[in-house]
Amino acid sequence: MNFIIGILFSLIAVTILVLIPWVGVGALDLRVLFGIIIPYAALLTFFLGIITRVIGWSRSPVPFRIPTTGGQQKSLPWIRQNKLDNPSGPLGVIGRMALEVLLFRSLFRHTRMEFREGPKIGYEWEKWLWIAALAFHYGFLVVILRHLRFFTEPIPAFVHWIESLDGFLEMGIAPLAGFAVPGLLLSGFVLLAALAFLFLRRLLSPQIIYISLPADYFPLFLIMGIVTTGILMRYVDAFMQYLFKWDVLSVEVVQAKALAMGLVSFHPTIPEGIGTIFYIHLFLVSILAAYFPFSKLMHMVGIFLSPTRNLSNNSRIVRHINPWDYPVKVHTYEEYEDEFREKMVEVGSPVEKMPETAAGEAQDTAAEKPQDTPAEEKRDVPATKAQASPSEGGADSTEKKEKE
Ligand code: HEM
Repeated sequence: MNFIIGILFSLIAVTILVLIPWVGVGALDLRVLFGIIIPYAALLTFFLGIITRVIGWSRSPVPFRIPTTGGQQKSLPWIRQNKLDNPSGPLGVIGRMALEVLLFRSLFRHTRMEFREGPKIGYEWEKWLWIAALAFHYGFLVVILRHLRFFTEPIPAFVHWIESLDGFLEMGIAPLAGFAVPGLLLSGFVLLAALAFLFLRRLLSPQIIYISLPADYFPLFLIMGIVTTGILMRYVDAFMQYLFKWDVLSVEVVQAKALAMGLVSFHPTIPEGIGTIFYIHLFLVSILAAYFPFSKLMHMVGIFLSPTRNLSNNSRIVRHINPWDYPVKVHTYEEYEDEFREKMVEVGSPVEKMPETAAGEAQDTAAEKPQDTPAEEKRDVPATKAQASPSEGGADSTEKKEKE
């Protein structure tokens, strides 16, 4: 039941987010708010939020090396080291990180436990999850890079290259080809298909739906909303205009670019002729940007700061000294016994030294060494005794007692 609430909650939240600019721009004409103020506020939240989180993470102490070690570490020359899964130096770490960030290597090796006939436990390779994750992330990246054409003048050559690669099929949407529908750009549809897979995977697997939260569904629905409004603007708008002369969505790309250029050049402007659908697209993007630093999407930044990935395993090669090793005040067993000796003897607890021996020793020490031992020195010596005393001390003193 909880999962239905999680899905409904996220769905309603995204629906409300679509309605806000629809009413705000469509009915109330608040174009400055939705075209300038909210995008700037969102960008500010995005950058400040990321900086704050990164500072927070970098303040966490990493007192020793905790890399995930998935293979043989560097040891004797005749034992082969697994340089990627147990790197001992920066090169190995860079290789490991690059494969993780660019190809999601650990996800590639991910397996799912399942019950099979018998009943038996089996492990299923999650290859579809890996493929969908790659499709989602690369689809997203390509769409963002292509969008640079709205934010740059002249448009860099690599944006044109990416666009022609992405549209290599050189066709309109198959059944609509010839209806003035712009050439199909694959990445937007790949992105939408990957999002659908990631959502259905949560929905159809009993184990995953059980652990899924609104924080998992919300970003999926939000990005689906962004992609769908983008696709509506690019294809449906042109199709409707051509076929029915019906300017239902009314998005002039040139005007949209003027708005985008105004934002990046800090000379914001609101050109005429941009339909509400564009403001919905922009508003959802703004919400995604503002939500990003406080969500699980921060894994995009966090992966680089993850000590289980970005540290080499050189604990046996290099001596790591704790940099904040301040002198710790310890209470040794010896001091403890000095404090409570009489009471211990009274109740019959074993002691290392009987009161008279301790008093004699104290006198001798005072005569030999008039000055006090510095606190620093004291710290190390008795600590050893303290460790030994709880087990050895008792036996020792019993022996002494017997002798006495
Ligand atoms: C998270 C960021 C964004 C994503 C994921 C996204 C996604 C998309 C997608 C999938 C399309 C469909 C066409 C295509 O595949 O290119 C699209 C179209 C469009 N997007 Fe975005 N978008 C984002 C941000 C923006 C921003 C910030 C703006 C402008 C300020 C913008 C303006 C447009 C416009 C004008 C179109 C229509 C393009 C056309 O008619 O050729 N988008 N968007």
